[in-house]
Amino acid sequence: MVTKKYPFADVEPGMKLASPILKENGQVLLAEDTVLTETFIAKLKLMNLKFVNIVERTVDSEEAPAAPATADAFDAVYDDTLQVIENCFSTMRYFKEVPLMQMKELVDTSINLMIDAAGVFGYLQTIRKQDDYTFRHSINVAIISGILGKWIGLSGERLRDLILAALLHDIGKTQIPLEILNKPAKLTQEEMKIMEGHTIEGHKMLLGEPSINKGILCGILQHHEKIDGTGYPLGISGDQIHIFARIIAVADIYDAMTSDRIYHKKQTPFAVIEEIKQETFGKLDPVICMTFLRNIINYFIGKKVILSNGAEAEVVYHGGHLAAYPIVFTQDGKFIDLEGNKSVAIVAMA
Ligand SMILES: [Fe+2]
Repeated sequence: MVTKKYPFADVEPGMKLASPILKENGQVLLAEDTVLTETFIAKLKLMNLKFVNIVERTVDSEEAPAAPATADAFDAVYDDTLQVIENCFSTMRYFKEVPLMQMKELVDTSINLMIDAAGVFGYLQTIRKQDDYTFRHSINVAIISGILGKWIGLSGERLRDLILAALLHDIGKTQIPLEILNKPAKLTQEEMKIMEGHTIEGHKMLLGEPSINKGILCGILQHHEKIDGTGYPLGISGDQIHIFARIIAVADIYDAMTSDRIYHKKQTPFAVIEEIKQETFGKLDPVICMTFLRNIINYFIGKKVILSNGAEAEVVYHGGHLAAYPIVFTQDGKFIDLEGNKSVAIVAMA
């Protein structure tokens, strides 16, 4: 990367930062690689900066990177992505502007690589932590929506738009007061209404942005709508809900239920798949849901699990019934069909 120090007066929209701009307290205001816009420059003017480091050109690497093939390689890509997302979210909270170039670059690089990782659902399961939930959730929903979009048959630009919509689906949360967003207790009805407004806020942040099409806007605005009309913010139903929003809704629910939250411990993917199966009746798009459930189980074949009797076992076959009760092979050499033997259940991933 070739960089150059520019006097602040010469800085123009479209230039990319080679080093972060920090607030007086050391907190990152704009991260490295942020592409400057008129809004950013106007606000930075108030800080009386003398110089800014700008990227002159990047040196292209010769080989395109491959999808991460081990948990460690996946974690490394994931951690880098998390850092960028954290910076983008703090930029949005402070400037009320979406750093779109960086978000799009993430979709085209690291998120695409993670989508293509053969063990992606297993890796996601092992790196789930409770901290930074909003940031992790945005990345996870982008990855899961991308995989599900491919299973549904989307490709090219349309798939790229879906992944971007998924990555941006909760950006409206940057406009929710932190005391409500991070409240460790149950929200009051009034606070809940404000929280639900993140769908409208996110939509507003991108409305009028020339590179953002209607599908992406609908994905953000409608991701909490339900097929039976019981969702928010508009209470629309069925096909009135854009396909991006119907896909993101399934990815959103899967990720929320397999993550540790303040109110609930994370569940195994098997329990979540069973719960989503129940939800398909009425709330989620049945075709998208069934596509998700039918395909996801294949990711868990060969994985080690802990059974309710304390034994460790390997998932060997899903037996045609959807995922929640597969056939497992125990360490002491027994096959158990969990569909036929409900006295034993999977309680954790090993
Ligand atoms: Fe949301």
